[in-house]
Amino acid sequence: MRFPTEGLLVALSASGVRAARNGLARTPQMGWNNWNTFACSVSSTLLLDTSKLLTEYGLQDLGYKYVVLDDCWSSGRDDNGKLVADSDKFPDGMGAVADALHEQGFLFGMYSSAGEMTCARYAGSLDYEEADAQSFADWGVDYLKYDNCYHMGRFGTPLVSFNRFNAMAEAIKKTGRSILYSLCSWGEDYVHTWGGSIANSWRISGDIYDSFARPDDLCSCTNAADPECIAPGTHCSVLAIINKVAPYIDRGLPGGWNDLDMLEVGHGGMTEEEYKAHFSMWAALKSPLLLGNDLRSMTASSLAIVNNPAIIALNQDPRGRAVQRIQRNLDVPVDRHGVGEAHVWSGPLANGDQVVIFLNAADADLDMAAALEDIFIMDGVGTAPQIRQDWAIHDLWGNSARMSTDDAQALLDAKGADARREFLRSKVDWYNATEVPYAEGLERRDSRLFGERIGTVEAGGEIKVRVQRHSAKVFRLQSISGQDSARKSLLRDEL
Ligand SMILES: *[C@@H]1O[C@H](CO)[C@@H](O)[C@H](O)[C@H]1NC(C)=O
Repeated sequence: MRFPTEGLLVALSASGVRAARNGLARTPQMGWNNWNTFACSVSSTLLLDTSKLLTEYGLQDLGYKYVVLDDCWSSGRDDNGKLVADSDKFPDGMGAVADALHEQGFLFGMYSSAGEMTCARYAGSLDYEEADAQSFADWGVDYLKYDNCYHMGRFGTPLVSFNRFNAMAEAIKKTGRSILYSLCSWGEDYVHTWGGSIANSWRISGDIYDSFARPDDLCSCTNAADPECIAPGTHCSVLAIINKVAPYIDRGLPGGWNDLDMLEVGHGGMTEEEYKAHFSMWAALKSPLLLGNDLRSMTASSLAIVNNPAIIALNQDPRGRAVQRIQRNLDVPVDRHGVGEAHVWSGPLANGDQVVIFLNAADADLDMAAALEDIFIMDGVGTAPQIRQDWAIHDLWGNSARMSTDDAQALLDAKGADARREFLRSKVDWYNATEVPYAEGLERRDSRLFGERIGTVEAGGEIKVRVQRHSAKVFRLQSISGQDSARKSLLRDEL
């Protein structure tokens, strides 16, 4: 079966046929979710302390706009069957949290499960969809993460799962409030084939854990379409999730995205290079980017990763195409778990540029290479016009292109909101996506979104690069000789 071409999907979405039809998530949603660090230790204080720091660290103005509360927030249902917020954790109620976040320019995300209980065994929304959607709307909620626990056996075929998740989609629609709908069904029942019809994003795997490549039986399914995949579960490494999404990268499009789960950057279990690779792949695969770390103890290293505007610009690129894997090499040194592989990923960007990622998940440094012929495989098998052009190579992690760890430390150390804003404005000339959205910055060729130019690759040539163990090289190719012809080919394929 061949999936419809991009052109057809553009036409479908233009006529309002495709996706959640709520106009949200035209680029992947960005924000913060408490689960990876805090699990059930939630409170209004945590959410509001965090949102304040998102603003002060300049992250809000890079696009991290959704503050998403995860499980464990309720104390059950009242006599009318309405969900009630835990009054110890949220003394002023959920509406007050939403108001406070809106006041600061954030959007508020909520959590429930399409089951009798949530995953941590609080009241779930199965068969209470309309009442709960109305509560969320009444509270001013802008986003719903909808989990998959305790579904009473209502799964096992795509249609059964679709109906269960569609009940909430319909309930949200009925409220009339604009609420981003984020499915957390762990890739079950081929959600990548139907999620786009009703939701803005859908998880494609079990829960992530803070490991780059360690295999784990709890993340047993290597392929979500495998009928034996009955326990997508948890403990999925960055590499496991990347391998799961590889066959489905074409399912994410403006309005609905493959969700690779919340970020682990800053959690502490990976090296700096591993976190850079993790963040880069999530961005280029067009996953929602939800930070999962404790902002109150953020390190300079993790701040300087998640605030790289050139990487975020890949994620927020208006064309909305994920990178595709063009090389997978398993013949490389493996670690004590038997894991080792190396990939090259490539994908088109709105302005005719191309992103190319060399991902080294082998247990040794590697010399890697990719030919233009393979990099532009999506534009024709050996016939892409881009193969005949010269390209400038921009390193999106080049030192001159990102905030230094010293500057990140100075920003963290600055005392108070005013000092931090001043630092961002005058000391580091920080990119502000609130003022200049990424689409506009890219159009204007704002140098802060284009990394550091490190070389060229000539027509018909290949890129060769040494890649450190457990790291990624992330390049943006920009046509030198044939800017115009690259643009023409892009236009042709969108007609
Ligand atoms: C970014 O721009 C907005 C809108 O002009 C402004 O309110 C905000 O303070 C700016 N952020 C920073 C960090 O300068």
